[in-house]
Amino acid sequence: MCTPTSNCGFHHQVTGANKGIGFGIVQELCSKFDGVVYLTARDEDRGLAAVDELKKMGLSARFHQLDIDCKESILKFSEYLKKTYGGLDVLVNNAGMAFKVHNLHLYLYA
Ligand SMILES: NC(=O)c1ccc[n+]([C@@H]2O[C@H](COP(=O)([O-])OP(=O)(O)OC[C@H]3O[C@@H](n4cnc5c(N)ncnc54)[C@H](OP(=O)(O)O)[C@@H]3O)[C@@H](O)[C@H]2O)c1
Repeated sequence: MCTPTSNCGFHHQVTGANKGIGFGIVQELCSKFDGVVYLTARDEDRGLAAVDELKKMGLSARFHQLDIDCKESILKFSEYLKKTYGGLDVLVNNAGMAFKVHNLHLYLYA
């Protein structure tokens, strides 16, 4: 059994994982791999809601706030990982903005 201070399995971390592809990646990691999976999101409420959604599917991910545009947030999470697990095995840096065809006007008039 993994605890926040144990060193079992691999430690995965997915950025921008409260929805979309990132959420799907966390779902797959939780169902296929042993070890600790961190679902991170810039907004705590959206992140925790996503972790709850996974729980309803019988899957267990841990949450940590992480805004990839905020140095302070990055350093805070990085320090936490180093202190708690000695580091990180796998980083899936998914956070970003997907180009959506229905939002084309945003780009045309930007
Ligand atoms: N969908 C596609 O067809 C496609 C194609 C090629 C590449 N991609 C790339 O794949 C990635 C995911 O796409 P998607 O379709 O799943 O996009 P999405 O549904 O828009 O989800 C993007 C995720 O990134 C998060 N995010 C944005 N800025 C962030 C920041 N500064 N810090 C932390 N999280 C942040 C969003 O959080 P909030 O909910 O807080 O906004 C959301 O969870 C993107 O990098 C995109 O460019 C997508």
